[in-house]
Order: sequence, then structure tokens, then C-alpha cells
Amino acid sequence: MKVLIVGGKGQLGRGLAATAPAGTEIVSHDIDTLDITDAAAIARVMDEVEPELLLNAAAYTAVDKAESDEETALAVNGTAVGLLADAARGARAKFIHVSTDFVFDGTSGVPYLPDAPTNPLGAYGRTKLAGEQAAGEDALIVRTAWVYAPTGGNFVRTMLRLMAAHPQVRVVADQIGTPTWAPGLAAALWQLAAQGASGVYHYTDAGAASWYDFAVAIQEEALAAGLLEAAVPVIPINTADYPTPAKRPHYSVLDKTSMFALLGGPTPHWRSNLRLMIAAIKAEG
Ligand SMILES: NC(=O)c1ccc[n+]([C@@H]2O[C@H](COP(=O)([O-])OP(=O)(O)OC[C@H]3O[C@@H](n4cnc5c(N)ncnc54)[C@H](OP(=O)(O)O)[C@@H]3O)[C@@H](O)[C@H]2O)c1
Repeated sequence: MKVLIVGGKGQLGRGLAATAPAGTEIVSHDIDTLDITDAAAIARVMDEVEPELLLNAAAYTAVDKAESDEETALAVNGTAVGLLADAARGARAKFIHVSTDFVFDGTSGVPYLPDAPTNPLGAYGRTKLAGEQAAGEDALIVRTAWVYAPTGGNFVRTMLRLMAAHPQVRVVADQIGTPTWAPGLAAALWQLAAQGASGVYHYTDAGAASWYDFAVAIQEEALAAGLLEAAVPVIPINTADYPTPAKRPHYSVLDKTSMFALLGGPTPHWRSNLRLMIAAIKAEG
């Protein structure tokens, strides 16, 4: 199968390249070679590549920056998704798009089903919701959350850096979600692509955690692997003690039951995948 990946240098984009099934012919672009807000550039690359599948791993993911730059975030996360969807439809290619738990307001006490009412709290979530609406009913839309990988800016890498450099770290304990290992998400997207699935699905690792729980686990796993030399206190704090430009949902665990049915079983627990991350960073030296 011939596949065009956009956003190929991001966490998910790299994971997709690393986990592609044998026989997949991948052409990967990122903003330096294909800006997805440029309809003419999309048309040119689609003509060149003639993909059977267009996978959108590109996004404006700076959640706080989006609050003061919603126009750019909307262009990338919203309008451009419509351009990609149109291009895929025109070329009779399948379109797979990735969205976020931030389309929900976090007031639910139970995991969010794919058809639960959306109500984003901030600009990033609003623009990603616009992208879902622009992707069209024939697309596969997979919402995920708290994504991390050995490369890229993410919570695990930030915690490892802070824990090595500071006498203590303070971490928000009243936001609950689920960490997600990017290569695991990528492998699932390939499985779903092979099945030709359409509609909205949820994919994260299994389980739930606060950012504080996640930080404690990161430190424990990194100490066990010899990535950190000494433990520092991890102090739980409230969201109110760590103000950010963007409001974030307090509870954004996603219900993945329909996804499990397609994948043939549950996703791995987030803590197992965290061990894979720590091992991958250690292997890089
Ligand atoms: N990261 C998370 O925690 C998280 C959580 C929930 C959902 N998601 C969703 O999961 C998907 C993958 O996220 P990720 O973590 O892999 O994001 P990422 O690491 O930030 O990668 C996104 C990539 O898209 C590129 N990009 C930005 N604007 C573009 C444009 N106009 N044209 C082409 N490429 C552009 C970025 O380039 P630059 O780096 O140069 O900007 C980057 O390489 C996204 O849809 C995201 O919204 C992520």
C-alpha cells in the first residue's frame, strides 16, 4: 500500500514510519516540505505520490500558545484538515486523522465515549474539534491523549530533565487522563487502516493517572533503569497552583471499548509502555 504521511517529523509521524507493516510504501512530509495549510502544495504532492492512504500526523500542538494564536492553530488543526480530506476524496484515498481528549470539558466522572458531547475548554480543543468536523464522515478519526515518544517535546522527557536538575518537582495532581506511547498508537493506526475503519474512535494506553502519578512512575522507572542517579521529592499540587494560559480538562479518560473490538483486545497499560520509553531512551545513550 502506498501511503502519504503529513507531519512525519512529529512524535506520531516518526512512530508511523517505525511501525509500518511490511510492504507499505511511505512518503513522509513535514512542514518544511509540505505545509498542510497550502492547498496547492497538497494537490502537487498528492499528484506526485498517488497514495491509497493519507495519514495526518500534523498538528499545531502548542496548547498554551494556541490561546494567543488561535488563528494559526485553526488554520493547521481545522481548515487544513478539510483541505487534506478533500484531496484524499478527490484521489479516492482513505483519510486518517488524529484528534484529542481536549475536545471534552473534563466534567464527566466516567470515561468519555466517542459520541459523548464535546465542549472544548480552550483554543487548541476548539481548533481540533473544527478539524474533526472538517474531516468528513468517510474519514477515520482517532482521538488520543498525553502522547509521548523518545523524540519531541513531551512530559516524560521534561520530567527526566527536571528531576536531574532540581531538588524537587511540583506536579499537578488534579488532572486525570491516560498517557499514550506514540509507537503503540501508530501501530494501532496501521491495524485500523488495514481494516478500512471509518468514524470516530478513541485510542490511549489502558488505565488512568494524574500527571503526578505519571511523574512518580517516571522517576521510579528511570531510577530502576539507571537513567536518574537519585530520587527527588515529587510534590503533588493543584491546577490552581500552576496557572497556564489554557484551561485543561480535569478528567479526560477516553472510553476505548469500540477500539478494543477493532484491535482484538485492550491496549497495553500505560505503565508497561512507560517502561518501553525508558528503555528506548536508555538505548539511545
Ligand atoms: N502530543 C500530545 O500529547 C497529543 C495529545 C492528544 C492528541 N494529540 C494529537 O496527536 C497528533 C500527533 O501529535 P504529536 O504529539 O505527534 O505532535 P507533534 O510531535 O507536535 O507533531 C506534529 C508535527 O506537525 C508539524 N506541523 C505543524 N504545522 C504544520 C503544517 N502547517 N504543515 C505540516 N506539518 C505541520 C509539526 O512541525 P513543527 O514541530 O515544526 O511545528 C510537527 O512535526 C496530533 O493530531 C495531535 O493533535 C497529541
